[in-house]
Amino acid sequence: MNAPVPPTPPRDFPIRRGCPFAAPEEYATLRTEEPVARVTLPTGRPAWVVTRYDDVRALLSDPRVSADIRRPGFPALGVGEQEAGARLRPFIRTDPPEHTRYRRMLLPEFTVRKVRAMRPAVQAIVDGVLDDMLAAPQPADFVASYANAVSTSVICELLGIPRENLEFFRDVTRVSGSRTSTAEQVAEALSGLFTMLSDLIAERRERPGEDLLSRLVTDRLLTGDLTMRELLSVVGITINAGRETTTSMIALSALLLLRRPDLLEELRAEPDLVPSAVEELLRVLSVADSIPLRVAAEEIRLSGETIPADDGVIGLIAGANHDPGRFPDPQTVDLRRDDNHHLAFGHGVHQCIGQQLARLELEIALRTLIQRVPTLRLAVPYEEIVFKHDSATFGVERMPVAW
Ligand code: HEM
Repeated sequence: MNAPVPPTPPRDFPIRRGCPFAAPEEYATLRTEEPVARVTLPTGRPAWVVTRYDDVRALLSDPRVSADIRRPGFPALGVGEQEAGARLRPFIRTDPPEHTRYRRMLLPEFTVRKVRAMRPAVQAIVDGVLDDMLAAPQPADFVASYANAVSTSVICELLGIPRENLEFFRDVTRVSGSRTSTAEQVAEALSGLFTMLSDLIAERRERPGEDLLSRLVTDRLLTGDLTMRELLSVVGITINAGRETTTSMIALSALLLLRRPDLLEELRAEPDLVPSAVEELLRVLSVADSIPLRVAAEEIRLSGETIPADDGVIGLIAGANHDPGRFPDPQTVDLRRDDNHHLAFGHGVHQCIGQQLARLELEIALRTLIQRVPTLRLAVPYEEIVFKHDSATFGVERMPVAW
């Protein structure tokens, strides 16, 4: 008699990208053979991953699915994130009605009208950052000197935080977003951030300004709508969620365009194409691939598979955005793609609050770069560029450039 065949252990997750400008190749196999697949997370825990566009959308809009990080099955990708998150409870990792309360406070700050009014300020920031980069010795690290400087300065402008601490913010997100950080390291990084913010909040109590932080202090903290701890959490998540994602998008977009002179030429010849190019780059690059972490609060079925109650499940954004059933020829970068309803900003109640601001930043950062630095080039061979594989957001670690 043959011995029983042992079950194949679930594959490890995250799955690495081969090409930085596409979803991991294995997602295509999963999408056809196992669209709802069992995986083992770096924490050693099991979870499910979902790779089809329709399934990811259905998952993220299903009220039976929870984003509450305190649930034991929550599929955090690092032990540090799970433990620190359960303690601090950023609202991105909570459910309605608690989540709705925070979201309602922030939404009016990110309307299309409010973001449109920020255009001159964002353009001034981008011009200033570029002036500084061009005045500095070559080669420069594009990630630090441009991508991070733009995204962090815009968040600082929005919140009314002094801009001198660009590196400090970068370090906080690097530690708190890394899968390899311990709970203590995450807590220490965030406590540094909270100390800095507490000092600013004390100042705004005395002398409120025209910024978001002042409005939150005056309208929410002083009225008792928010406790100090809740205010710190709201501001902290806005900084963390808005910085690294936008930095990664600016840097990866520039790198892709440097690798594809034909696309760069197309944009240079037709600058009005930039907004549509931004949508395509958001789809193709899908930097927030494994940010939507969820738990099935009840049993759910997707593509014929049953996910039992209390199991963790991740809606893979790069999986959805490269689904050939939804986007014809998904690997092709088509700057004029029609019907580009990608899920780069998620879907459902947690859909990105800052998406209009992110679009504005990307548009201005790319257009200005293309217009003002036509000689931009990599200062090292492409093969030496280091990518960020172990962070919540996929991105570029360093990118030496010259012009
Ligand atoms: C949520 C992506 C920029 C603030 C999200 C989510 C995604 C995302 C996928 C949903 C997470 C989930 O479902 O669990 C991105 C990308 C960006 C970007 C790709 C840049 C290209 C920004 C900016 C801000 C921001 C600039 C603010 C200044 C937030 C906040 C949430 C969020 C506060 C939580 C929303 C909630 O839970 O209700 N983002 N984001 N993001 N994002 Fe963004």
